[in-house]
Amino acid sequence: MRRFEGATIYITGGSSGIGLEMAKIFASRGANMLLIARNEQKLEEARKQVEQSRRGPTQKIGALSVDVADVADVQQKMQAALSLYGAPEILVNSAGINKYADHFENIDHAMFDEVMRVNLYGTRNMIHALLGAMKQKRGHVVVLSSAAGLFGMFGYTAYGTSKAALLGLCDSLRYELKPLGMKVTVVCPPEVDTPMNLDEAKTLPPEGRAVKNLGGFLTPHYAASVIVKAVARGQYLCIPGASTRFLYLLHRLSNGRLTRFVSDMVIWATRKRKGA
Ligand SMILES: NC(=O)c1ccc[n+]([C@@H]2O[C@H](COP(=O)([O-])OP(=O)(O)OC[C@H]3O[C@@H](n4cnc5c(N)ncnc54)[C@H](OP(=O)(O)O)[C@@H]3O)[C@@H](O)[C@H]2O)c1
Repeated sequence: MRRFEGATIYITGGSSGIGLEMAKIFASRGANMLLIARNEQKLEEARKQVEQSRRGPTQKIGALSVDVADVADVQQKMQAALSLYGAPEILVNSAGINKYADHFENIDHAMFDEVMRVNLYGTRNMIHALLGAMKQKRGHVVVLSSAAGLFGMFGYTAYGTSKAALLGLCDSLRYELKPLGMKVTVVCPPEVDTPMNLDEAKTLPPEGRAVKNLGGFLTPHYAASVIVKAVARGQYLCIPGASTRFLYLLHRLSNGRLTRFVSDMVIWATRKRKGA
């Protein structure tokens, strides 16, 4: 079981939602934290909150504005971060967007590319920039995928594609890092009550909303606690929430037939209700 006291942890998306909750928990266990996101004001507010959660006054709690989708920004700022904070034992990739949850035909190329650039390439950029330094510490890479990476979902062609791709990235990366004594944890939460869902609600079709309800709804603190436990245990796949774990079990046992059947029924009933 890994202890976090004295560890250095970089966390993208650390200014909000699941990332911020994880940062508070890690800080309360004695870790030094570097929070990474774009908006400087939100970052500073988050930094103060995390500082209040820390166990002792000598723990460093820093914040750095980085656009993870911009590879040059990531490379330059991570070099600076390494000299200021040292190599991380743990890199948590929680930065992500869920804009454009909509019918595929309403998502233009620029929208689709934006989701891929932040969610997939942003994670790739961060891991690539830090991997060399993390090797010396036998570090641990944590990636926030989603239940939408495990199952197809109505309205999720852009977001779901980016999250399924992250599972592919992690599955391969894990094999490469294990012989180096490094670990990977990939996390697939269902819906979590964070600001991300406000963006999504603007466009998510009712069919998507109804299917999403099957997975359950978690608080950020609960999701973050489950993830931190999984990281402490060195667990590879982490699915917070009993409903989603049960759905995933059925999905695998039935080779996807059962989840497709249930989702098709829910979509059919929702369309009937709205008279489509
Ligand atoms: N909430 C859910 O229902 C849910 C479910 C499953 C999986 N997830 C995944 O969990 C992760 C965290 O989600 P959340 O719900 O905590 O979202 P959130 O509250 O909206 O937080 C997203 C974080 O990512 C940062 N971010 C977004 N784009 C960025 C960029 N280009 N560069 C750097 N930072 C960026 C945001 O800060 P700035 O905007 O200031 O950059 C913010 O700190 C995401 O990867 C999400 O896909 C969420």
